[in-house]
Amino acid sequence: MEGRVPGRLPRRPDGVRPPWKDRRILLGVTGGIAAYKSIQLARDFTRLGARVEVVLTESATRFVTPLAFEAVTGGSVYRSLWSVEAAARHLALAGKADLVVVAPATADFVARSAAGRANDLLTTILLATRAPVLLAPAMNDRMWSHEQTRRNTEYLTEVLGYHLAGPISGALAIGEGEGRGRMEEPEYLLLHAGRLLGRSSRWEGRRVLVTAGPTREPLDPVRYLGNRSSGLMGYALAEAAWLRGADVTLITGPSSLVRPLGVKCVEVETAREMEAAVRTKLPGHDLQIFAAAVADFRPGQSAEGKVKRADVEADGGWMVSLVENPDVAVDTRDARREGSVTVGFALETEDLVDRAREKMERKAFDFIVANPAGEKGAGFDSATNRVTVLDRAGGVEELPRAEKWAIAWQLLDRFAGSWAPDDPDE
Ligand code: CTP
Repeated sequence: MEGRVPGRLPRRPDGVRPPWKDRRILLGVTGGIAAYKSIQLARDFTRLGARVEVVLTESATRFVTPLAFEAVTGGSVYRSLWSVEAAARHLALAGKADLVVVAPATADFVARSAAGRANDLLTTILLATRAPVLLAPAMNDRMWSHEQTRRNTEYLTEVLGYHLAGPISGALAIGEGEGRGRMEEPEYLLLHAGRLLGRSSRWEGRRVLVTAGPTREPLDPVRYLGNRSSGLMGYALAEAAWLRGADVTLITGPSSLVRPLGVKCVEVETAREMEAAVRTKLPGHDLQIFAAAVADFRPGQSAEGKVKRADVEADGGWMVSLVENPDVAVDTRDARREGSVTVGFALETEDLVDRAREKMERKAFDFIVANPAGEKGAGFDSATNRVTVLDRAGGVEELPRAEKWAIAWQLLDRFAGSWAPDDPDE
């Protein structure tokens, strides 16, 4: 799976945001030990602003209680087809869901749903719903690799169009050792669900390239010139474009952030490496976003061995002369597809709008996103940002301060303004 680095998980959600906000998610939980992780999943969906209703199978209740899900979602939890209330409700639940997620999905559940059974509330809902379905299988690795399970999952994905996330490799239940059978982690299930909620005809199949992060320009093998960019704004844009269904490539300088799920990442260090990577990858993209904080200068020479303090003292100091780096956005201009949209960023300390406009024109951007440097809660190294978006037609729009994740989502709407609108039937 692209972007999935074992052992490191994306940040847990800390606020309401699209594409989860106000969407109805029906979370089915079946009887496997991974069911305890689904409580976290239900909680995270709720924190992101989704309205979550939970359906537990009878065997799931042996591992987790309805009360736990009620407590974290504040919503209803259903168990049985045989209560008057649930019987009347199952069609309603199936009809109004934007997405059905089954986590964990046991081998038995996979078999029952592939066979089209409707012998409990959850399988009944699956037959009645027309919402997309995401399954997170969890079982023993031998059960997962068994021909029966293979055939069932193939039928669910190929014929019924269900989506699968996982299982992943790692430790199984106690005594079962290691193998491929673990349920995908809730942090990634959220994102898979997000893409099913966020995708739209306007973005599906679109190719988006994003540059992000700082660059490091070596002084010697251990020291470098760099800047304070965390890469967050670019990563947030790459993730938001992927959540909308785009095919995304991220060219990133060194960053401690977890690589966005599903995004093709090219890791570089220096401005010159970034320029080479962009030149190779850029052709054929519909949208290119230059969010990287590229160093404009690099040391004229990088020492081969570590520069020693005594040598510097003997020389009376360490004089570094800087030479110009390529301008990644400008120097790769000829590789942009005609008719594609190009976006730049500008971090300015004064005359924000005028300087950004001049930069947009000089670098042939269609949009430029200007952020104030040195302001608390905006720009570099900050979780939030306050941006002004300028376009070639003379438009100037200031977006209120918000989390970079939320800003990224809003920005993409502006950039895609000239693309065909979403299919009204969606
Ligand atoms: N940029 C780039 N390559 C560089 C410098 C900048 O691709 N060597 C891109 C950035 O990703 C951003 C835009 O150009 O989208 C503007 O970056 P900024 O650093 O604000 O502009 P500079 O050209 O460095 O201008 P100045 O130093 O005068 O502010």
